[in-house]
Amino acid sequence: MSEKIKEKFKEILEYYDNNPFLSLIPILNFIQDEEGFISEERIKEISEFLGIKENLIYETLTFYHFLSLEKKDKKTLYICKNISCLLEGAEEILEYLKENKDKLNFDFKECECIGLCDFAPAGLLDFKPLKNLSIEKIKELNEKI
Ligand code: FES
Repeated sequence: MSEKIKEKFKEILEYYDNNPFLSLIPILNFIQDEEGFISEERIKEISEFLGIKENLIYETLTFYHFLSLEKKDKKTLYICKNISCLLEGAEEILEYLKENKDKLNFDFKECECIGLCDFAPAGLLDFKPLKNLSIEKIKELNEKI
């Protein structure tokens, strides 16, 4: 583990009153942001650092959509599939994405509500909010990436 990572882990743990369970998700988010995924090596390091069993870390990781165990070559577009977004056209967008999967310059995943219901259909690309999505906007996005 690099010094930078070790220092950040300590900083997060202190911030959360040295509670390893409260620190786990912030630490996972930090690694996800830094490295784009959470490797087995990092899981072992986090387990040793926090004193939390690896299987619990895996369970946490697989529960949250935005944490990944795999290194990805492409950016991931998350499309909300909850009611406000479905009512405003998310289903058509998801259908379009599935039908054109081979032509896309990014990966995509469905996700739960991301708190942008007023701007439905909504999504996230590299955790940047995308509001009032449409198939046209998706096509433009695909050309820009
Ligand atoms: S329902 Fe889609 S952002 Fe809330």
